[in-house]
Amino acid sequence: MKYLITGGCGFIGSHLAEKLLLSGSDVTVIDDLSTGSLDNIKEIMHHEKFHLFIDTILNSVLLEEMIQKVDFVFHLAAVVGVKRVMDNPVDSIIINVEGTYNVLRLCAKHNKKTLLASTSEIYGKNTNVPFKEDADIVIGTTKKKRWSYACTKAIDEFLAFAFFEEKNFPVIVIRLFNTVGPRQSDKYGMVIPRFIKQALNNQPITVFGDGKQTRCFSHVKDIVDGMINLIIKEDAYGQVFNMGSEEEVTIEELAIAIKEMTKSASEIICINPQEIYSKGFEDMSRRMPDITKIRDMTNFSPQYNIKDIIRDCIEDVKKNRIS
Ligand SMILES: NC(=O)c1ccc[n+]([C@@H]2O[C@H](COP(=O)([O-])OP(=O)(O)OC[C@H]3O[C@@H](n4cnc5c(N)ncnc54)[C@H](O)[C@@H]3O)[C@@H](O)[C@H]2O)c1
Repeated sequence: MKYLITGGCGFIGSHLAEKLLLSGSDVTVIDDLSTGSLDNIKEIMHHEKFHLFIDTILNSVLLEEMIQKVDFVFHLAAVVGVKRVMDNPVDSIIINVEGTYNVLRLCAKHNKKTLLASTSEIYGKNTNVPFKEDADIVIGTTKKKRWSYACTKAIDEFLAFAFFEEKNFPVIVIRLFNTVGPRQSDKYGMVIPRFIKQALNNQPITVFGDGKQTRCFSHVKDIVDGMINLIIKEDAYGQVFNMGSEEEVTIEELAIAIKEMTKSASEIICINPQEIYSKGFEDMSRRMPDITKIRDMTNFSPQYNIKDIIRDCIEDVKKNRIS
């Protein structure tokens, strides 16, 4: 099989590329290295079946050439993370909407099977936890930039299903819930690498808010396996699936676990997220997936618990990134 991964130099994309190459497949990547890096793909860069194009998904001429040559497209390229979206609101909207439109329309034109990575952010302020795929999207006002990420991904999903309806486009949408693991950068506000770096440097571990908000973290390896197992199911096309862990932890518990597991002398302090982001910043208190649908389709069952995940991330930060 020949695969194209948009955003393949990113955190999830690089793990996916490695796994596909291991199974003997041919992998082409397009990435503009805006948040991804060559470091992420250093182990596979010279693999004979790996092909890299450093370019943007806004380049539809190149994109069309690449799509024509492959059997399947994983569309992961996006402006990701609340901090990055808040810092670059215009670019985020253009990449996530126009870039994804390019990918989806060209995949539909050439009838290539495609997986679109969407996000749990699109459940927004819905409090009906755990979220089922058919839950309402409850998004805040357009004057609050953080909601633009959720809205761009919702438009992407609408587009995918519109092409599915109108053109019989074989597409699957997955909504990822806090995917973490080795190689995730701390630069864009991602909580686990940020806490680990603070703990290893004996700096205060900065919890945004009161720390009582919960999240469910999945190991990137479970997510990559989940994607690969899902795309072989013909019944999955035209559908949307939550993908994540059901193990719910508070951010305070996460900070305590990281402090203990790094044997850090750091103190844990709570700071007002409005100081970091902007006045009126809104966060969700709980974000947990209902994974019945993907479990029924593929027997999806995450293998890594939160301690395993933290252990892997600490090792990675120690090995590569501590500064
Ligand atoms: N990690 C998570 O917890 C999470 C949660 C929900 C959804 N997702 C989705 O999963 C996908 C991958 O996320 P990730 O965590 O690996 O983030 P990431 O930032 O590491 O990966 C995104 C990649 O896309 C590339 N990219 C951005 N704009 C591009 C453009 N215009 N052209 C080409 N490449 C471009 C970046 O350089 C990067 O390598 C994204 O679509 C994201 O929305 C991730």
